Amino acid sequence: MTLPTLADLERLARQAGQILSESYEKDHKVDYKGVIDLVTEVDHASEKFLIDEISRLFPGHSFLAEESGASADQTEHLWIIDPLDGTVNYAHGVPLFCVSIAYSYHGQVILGAVYDPMRDEMFSAERGKGSWVNGRPLKASTSDELQKSLLVTGFPYDSWNAKPSNFDFFVKLGKMTQGVRRLGSAALDLCYIAAGRLDGYWELSLKAWDLAAGGLIAEEAGALVTNITGGSNYLAAPISILAASQALHPKMLEQLKFE
Ligand code: IPD
Ligand code: CA
Ligand code: CA
Repeated sequence: MTLPTLADLERLARQAGQILSESYEKDHKVDYKGVIDLVTEVDHASEKFLIDEISRLFPGHSFLAEESGASADQTEHLWIIDPLDGTVNYAHGVPLFCVSIAYSYHGQVILGAVYDPMRDEMFSAERGKGSWVNGRPLKASTSDELQKSLLVTGFPYDSWNAKPSNFDFFVKLGKMTQGVRRLGSAALDLCYIAAGRLDGYWELSLKAWDLAAGGLIAEEAGALVTNITGGSNYLAAPISILAASQALHPKMLEQLKFE
């Protein structure tokens, strides 16, 4: 069976990104999956394009995709897809969103691509080989002081009532750093860690499609990527993330302890 290449993932992410950018300034049909969890027709169109195209190119491969879930037959070839990460931004006309595609072989993510169509930035990585933005190598921050760091986090769709509440950590770390951003796209948060634009990222209650590609991109850029308790398998449930420079990671871990 033919294995995909990084160029395949980049091409697919770019094509799906074009679907997002072409519809960006149009009116959207918004449906609600929860009180504040929305989905547009563009999420569905991007996902359908990706699943149809990957099934045509790689027949027999399996999927874990946000809008259609897991395919019935799970094989050693798994594509983990978020067809539009940053849907709330997208629906409001905030230009911070992306397509995220990861390919996992025998249970390990080995290829990832995250494409931001608004800035035409293609972030990608191949396990053991490195990560790149538009072909240029990525290098994570080497920051070692919380006080000199810029962090990012996010909140799940049940954040109004979630316990433990990430708002507590947001306040705590906001008072120890140069700031905590909330960009609204977990995949781009990880790519910005990979690019050294941000020094540390944490979030609770995520899904594999939010993190699979971006996690590999951040790891390959030299960031330390674990779950919120320091475990290395950040795609195992319950899914959470802590991605930071090597020196900052233990300092953030220390602050992110549940009472
Ligand atoms: C969401 C974004 C957001 C994060 C949420 C995710 P979606 O994904 O990545 O930044 O805070 O937890 O669910 O719904 O836009 O694909
Ligand atoms: Ca997402
Ligand atoms: Ca999504």
